[in-house]
Amino acid sequence: MIYYRDVVPDLAKRFNDFAQSFDTGAPLYSQFARRVANERTVLDLMSVAPVSQRIPVLLFASAHYLLLDERSHELAQHYPNIAHEKGSGVATDLFVAFVLERADAMKELLANRSTQTNEISRCNWFLFPCAMLDAELGPLAQVDVGSSAGLNQLFPKISYDLRPGGLIGNNTSLTIACNITGEPPIPRQVPNVKWSMGLDTKPIDVRNDVEVRWLEACVWPDQVERFERLQQAISLARLHNIEVERGDAVDDVAQAVDRAAQHGHPVVTTSWVMNYLAPDRRIAFVDELNRVGSELDLSWIIAESPYETPELPGHSGSDEIITVITLVTWRKGQRNVQRLATTHPHGHWIHWGN
Ligand SMILES: C[S@@+](CC[C@H](N)C(=O)[O-])C[C@H]1O[C@@H](n2cnc3c(N)ncnc32)[C@H](O)[C@@H]1O
Repeated sequence: MIYYRDVVPDLAKRFNDFAQSFDTGAPLYSQFARRVANERTVLDLMSVAPVSQRIPVLLFASAHYLLLDERSHELAQHYPNIAHEKGSGVATDLFVAFVLERADAMKELLANRSTQTNEISRCNWFLFPCAMLDAELGPLAQVDVGSSAGLNQLFPKISYDLRPGGLIGNNTSLTIACNITGEPPIPRQVPNVKWSMGLDTKPIDVRNDVEVRWLEACVWPDQVERFERLQQAISLARLHNIEVERGDAVDDVAQAVDRAAQHGHPVVTTSWVMNYLAPDRRIAFVDELNRVGSELDLSWIIAESPYETPELPGHSGSDEIITVITLVTWRKGQRNVQRLATTHPHGHWIHWGN
């Protein structure tokens, strides 16, 4: 049994640690965290959250979510992603008052939500291997497992600023940059992906304003560019009718691959989802793809941390926390595992090779 009185000092420490870690990277949340560490009434609100979710970012995302619906509030003037001019008043005072005045709404969010990321710049992870696969066996059909709002299914529909390599792509309304080191085969055009689907146990519907607002709320307000990119990606996902179906990685991937195979060479993509599965479920997922790959030609692009997911092909014996991109292919039943690159957690740079 965990008693709440034992949790509060630990919680205060979490906020203090957060404040120290993000002093320069996220100055607004760092200030809030330093203050909240000493605000017992605010810490008390967090008692409704599941123990694993009693983390500073859940409190900040919940307040951000409410603020995105009250943009004229004084506090909003301190959020760089909302305000154009710096506000008056002490941001930390305003934050504490804002949260306590909305204690019921805050508790509702804290009890029921968890932080969510769906990062459009991760499309960089799929661009290079899919260009290789397109040249080998295209056109392609993507099954994105753990797709969240499906934003990474947009990878064939956006533009890329490859550094070096220049601009490629179809849509100038959303261009993502990728700083490249090493010597990847630089694509001259985006791969031909005829069909895609997303699979997620908790899919986010980009057409649902409430769900979209939560996704936006999980972006840190100092990261203005990231916030704007997310909004552009959501508009594009709406335009292209991106859909994510409710389903489980292990139980539903085989039928998804069968559907994909009717449209092109099936490519399964997983990015920062395998760490959500228990080790035995990760093994079951690998077994399932091995089984499917023994019956038809299949490819799997893995963008995960070997440290978090040692059961995946190419990860055993590695304690790298960094994201590694690995390409697994099954051709005529023969499996091949190729480590391609290491990369920034949101895809801003890629280092090709080992
Ligand atoms: C951190 S998000 C990553 C989203 C996206 N792949 C990206 O890279 O931006 C992880 C996603 O995996 C989903 N997920 C967790 N367990 C899953 C499972 N067993 N099957 C399918 N999706 C799962 C979560 O709901 C969440 O949307």
